Amino acid sequence: MNPPRLQTLALRKEYPGTVALDDVSVSWAGGQVHALLGKNGAGKSTLVKIFAGSVQPTSGQLLVDGREVRLRSPLEALRAGIATVYQELSLIPSLTVAENILLGRLPQARRLGLRRIDWPAAIREAQRLLDEMDAAVDARRQVRDLSVAQQQVVEIAKAFSSRPSVLMLDEPTSALSKHETANLFRLVRQLARQGVAVLYITHRLQELADIADTVTVLRDGKRVGSLPMREADAPTIVQMMFGHVTPRHRPPDLVPGPEPLLEVRGLSRKGKFQDVSFTVRRGEILGIAGMLGSGRTELLRAIFGAEPPDSGEVVVEGRSIRPHDPPSMRALGLALTPENRKEEGLVLSLGTRPNLFLASLDRMARWGVSSNARERHRAQELVAQLAIQTADVDFPVASLSGGNQQKVVIGKWLNTEPRVVLFDEPTRGVDLVAKQQIFEVMWDLTRRGLGCVFVSSELEELVEVCHRILILKDGRIAGEVQPEAITPNDLAVRCMTA
Ligand SMILES: Nc1ncnc2c1ncn2[C@@H]1O[C@H](COP(=O)(O)OP(=O)(O)OP(=O)(O)O)[C@@H](O)[C@H]1O
Ligand SMILES: [Mg+2]
Repeated sequence: MNPPRLQTLALRKEYPGTVALDDVSVSWAGGQVHALLGKNGAGKSTLVKIFAGSVQPTSGQLLVDGREVRLRSPLEALRAGIATVYQELSLIPSLTVAENILLGRLPQARRLGLRRIDWPAAIREAQRLLDEMDAAVDARRQVRDLSVAQQQVVEIAKAFSSRPSVLMLDEPTSALSKHETANLFRLVRQLARQGVAVLYITHRLQELADIADTVTVLRDGKRVGSLPMREADAPTIVQMMFGHVTPRHRPPDLVPGPEPLLEVRGLSRKGKFQDVSFTVRRGEILGIAGMLGSGRTELLRAIFGAEPPDSGEVVVEGRSIRPHDPPSMRALGLALTPENRKEEGLVLSLGTRPNLFLASLDRMARWGVSSNARERHRAQELVAQLAIQTADVDFPVASLSGGNQQKVVIGKWLNTEPRVVLFDEPTRGVDLVAKQQIFEVMWDLTRRGLGCVFVSSELEELVEVCHRILILKDGRIAGEVQPEAITPNDLAVRCMTA
């Protein structure tokens, strides 16, 4: 067994109202990939932030290669050889990919006696790194023009570029396709073979067998246990993470009615999607499956009016507005829970309560002036319905764990009393039990006669939750399947070949 590269002794982190880490002692050997697991709010990101130097522990020790270290800043952590890829992307949108990757150490050249940044060399170096990662990203592009998945790849390239001895990845694959995930795994293993200790956080338990050598589980800030991957079968891990879990299935009584709620007619946007038509009926959950880049997010955004389509029409309960924009679609009863919660979903500096009301201020106002008590009551209802874990609904949303922030985004749109909800990757970064809570919310909506459109990269979820699934391929509807008649694997094949 390799000696531990990284170790914690009785590590503790307290926040107001929360003990995020409680007496955590673990050691991680070099040359291996260590999965760090736990439900939403278990303390995983807190541990990573402590190693990354961006959060200071309340007490306890950190050891790197057997020596105690104090990591007072991200720079000190980087100097100690620890590189981190955060759960929330941290790139600067207005800079190029090359600048982001090499930030703080752009290559310089002397010209006419002056030191300047050597741009051709910077671009060459960043591109070489991206090519080494087999990532189809142009180092000269601005980060703001990249998809979430491409940004994730850049973030990882940036961490790799410091050639660290410890690499921490907080849910790195949540926005990646199968192909990109496979590439990432290849690279991570290559790094581990060079002696790097990799700490790997994921909620996708299926990937563990492909990437992890050991598994450590946290629960409520405490270490539940660590074991080698070969002893960690799925039931054991789930038991360690949650205790007992009862799997839930789509209730058989949820049968869609005949009336159309949402009709999308011949919607097109150049270069994104063409001639898309479908209907969602009352009480129906319609799934949309497709590969990364097939146009799913763009389609939902266009239906909601966030990106205007070139042609086509969106009708909600027989009514349409043209040209349509998000406020008018919201007035018609449409809601969209977006894929990228940080940019489009939440104001991180505000509390959970104001965030829950961001999309429904007009409706809340109708209830009367400054109805503080009622607002608080409604917030608590939503927090309970979605099991949002927060010490206080007035603490900033930034203090919530990643999965709990995702639930606030969903709550915010549920509070607009929509007729149809478009869900774009609602379960990203959300643990197994919280996923089921979100499914319950969807089923509950349809039971009340609403309609849902559900986009997810997790095809198992679509098969589990939906009444009907459309396959989107290169921006066109390439087929429709009944979930009862298809397995997730066959659906994946259809998405690629349809
Ligand atoms: N800055 C902060 N202020 C107050 N509480 C915080 C802060 N950061 C984290 N917490 C709390 O600490 C606990 C652990 O959060 P952490 O982000 O480590 O969870 P996690 O395991 O990464 O969860 P997820 O899977 O949802 O990302 C949570 O209860 C969270 O609300
Ligand atoms: Mg987290």
